[in-house]
Amino acid sequence: MGLISPATVDRILDAARIEEVVGEFVTLKRSGGSFRGLSPFTQEKTPSFYVVPSKGIFKCFSSGKGGSVVTFLMEHEQLSYPDALRWLAKKYQIEVEEEETSPEQDAVRDRRESMFAVNAFALKQFSEWMWNEEHGRAVGLAYFRERGFTDEILRKFELGYHLEGRDTLAQAAKKAGYQEEFLESTGLCIKRETGGLVDRFWGRAMFPIHSLSGRVVGFGGRVLRSDAKTAKYLNSPESEIYHKSQVLYGLFQAKQAISRANKVYLVEGYTDVISMHQAGVHNVVSSSGTALTLEQIRLVKRLTEHVTLLYDGDKAGIRASFRGIDLLLEEGLYVRAVPLPAGEDPDSLARSMDAEALAAYLSEHEVDFMQFKVEALTEEGQAQDPIRRAEVVRDVVQSVAKIPNAILREVYLRDSAQRLGIEERSLYAEMERIRGSELKNASQRRPDRDPYEDPTPPEMQVQRPQAPRPLAVEESLIRVLLQHGSDRITWLGPDGREHEDAAAALILDDLSADELAFGHDAYQRIYAEMLRIWSAEERILGPEHFVRHVDPEMAATAAECLTERHQLADWSRKSIYIGSVEDQLSNHVHECLLRFKEHRLEDRIREAVAELAQLTEPEAREVKLAEFMRIQTLRNALRAELQRVV
Ligand code: CTP
Ligand code: MN
Repeated sequence: MGLISPATVDRILDAARIEEVVGEFVTLKRSGGSFRGLSPFTQEKTPSFYVVPSKGIFKCFSSGKGGSVVTFLMEHEQLSYPDALRWLAKKYQIEVEEEETSPEQDAVRDRRESMFAVNAFALKQFSEWMWNEEHGRAVGLAYFRERGFTDEILRKFELGYHLEGRDTLAQAAKKAGYQEEFLESTGLCIKRETGGLVDRFWGRAMFPIHSLSGRVVGFGGRVLRSDAKTAKYLNSPESEIYHKSQVLYGLFQAKQAISRANKVYLVEGYTDVISMHQAGVHNVVSSSGTALTLEQIRLVKRLTEHVTLLYDGDKAGIRASFRGIDLLLEEGLYVRAVPLPAGEDPDSLARSMDAEALAAYLSEHEVDFMQFKVEALTEEGQAQDPIRRAEVVRDVVQSVAKIPNAILREVYLRDSAQRLGIEERSLYAEMERIRGSELKNASQRRPDRDPYEDPTPPEMQVQRPQAPRPLAVEESLIRVLLQHGSDRITWLGPDGREHEDAAAALILDDLSADELAFGHDAYQRIYAEMLRIWSAEERILGPEHFVRHVDPEMAATAAECLTERHQLADWSRKSIYIGSVEDQLSNHVHECLLRFKEHRLEDRIREAVAELAQLTEPEAREVKLAEFMRIQTLRNALRAELQRVV
């Protein structure tokens, strides 16, 4: 499949009626101009899920989710963006035009499709061999049953068995019409120097690895004889369709459970995933023996921000979880862990108890990442050794320093001070030192940022303390930008003359001149994109643009900003404007802008105070103090202006 052409995307989005689409999954009742129903994302008893057809949006007050018809399908059906569009195209019988592609692009696509086809054939073959061949049943099926896997779970994970022989699969595939080229490029077979193909996985129990949409991208094969001199697991090599760093084993089977539970368990192995699943814990994935990657974390992040590590209780497992913790923290996720007794892995744990006991074990033993680290580091009665203690402190602070959210950082730091019996101030100093040197490095790497992410220069990102949740001030301003960006307003310029222009023009010019940014991530991304288009084309992006945005978080945020609270039944009686909208709008825009600037200045003041407290050198203090005074003067001027406006 090629890219869906922009014209088709427009046709699809124009045809799609959000209330009809949502109505296929949720029973909706009309209530004024909108529809209302029970949230499909939570177990609520009173309906707080709204669909507003006139704006093409939905909003779920109990889960906080919201967005367009496309985001709804992405959330509810766990579809990718193009797949959600295809779903809609099918429903509304719109022919999907694919973007014109070059012969090279076609060739690449055909090659990939051929590889998927060979993998699909192999998958069927392995399961055929395991369930229906006498030898396969006696060896492959017997192995899995001995491990305690039920038939149901074997089918769910599409496990199979690869018959022995040098080229049994190669022969069967060729007979069925598949080309050698693709048997080789998928890694199912290996080309001999003499020219023939041999099977890579013969005699192994087969674990197919699925893409997010359920296609088989590769396999893991486990050796069955314990005396074998070969590696316990063999895996498909990297290929055009299998990028190890971008795949999590089990994600296809787990994605809905992860999103529903708003949490994922991260384990190390194939069998850990399967055994946990069988024991009733479905929100579990594995990085399959390789170190966790950024791409894998981003996959998870689309579904939940809560990750619990469940790694083997041995030294290697603990080391691996430490690495994972730091990477996850850096990406802004909430990290917890369940320590396992030495010698146990999630697979053995899950098999040693029933579903109820496992659930109880997991919830009773789960600790936040800090407690996990402190306990793992201070084992073996080393707690009293001062040198060892200093190491533990540094190690823990290093992890805390990775958290991008300033407030969370502080909370954890306070907590660790208590836990380690160390003065908060010294921990703080240590952390600032680490952050100072690490953030510089961080801004230099990361070539792989997505283009929608914030284009503010790195120096500013470092300074920008991230707000933990939408602040009212920021929300008001982003709402104005989205709802009234194109409306014309008037204001008094510094030259004393009255100006008239679009509200967005005033806001974007003003904020960018002062290099101010939003602390809330999605707001900042919306603002940055508006600013980019405004600077380049003098065009103001409207709410439709963001509600339809590829980035689901931006789409959801935009939809939320369009949700007029008082419009939604009795959600809130507060209405913003009294009297004529035009008259009030200029004032309102101005007020939001001033409040926002005040709020950012307050942040800077707070930072300056903290920095001042760290400085001992008189000259440096002098400089900082001058800066502090300057900001304070600005803030006071702003306050005076606010008094005039309001
Ligand atoms: N692994 C691998 N190659 C190896 C060993 C391990 O790819 N030679 C990967 C596999 O994905 C495996 C994971 O690392 O599932 C964890 O390894 P390990 O704990 O040794 O395997 P288990 O999953 O416990 O496998 P089993 O229970 O079958 O022994
Ligand atoms: Mn294991």
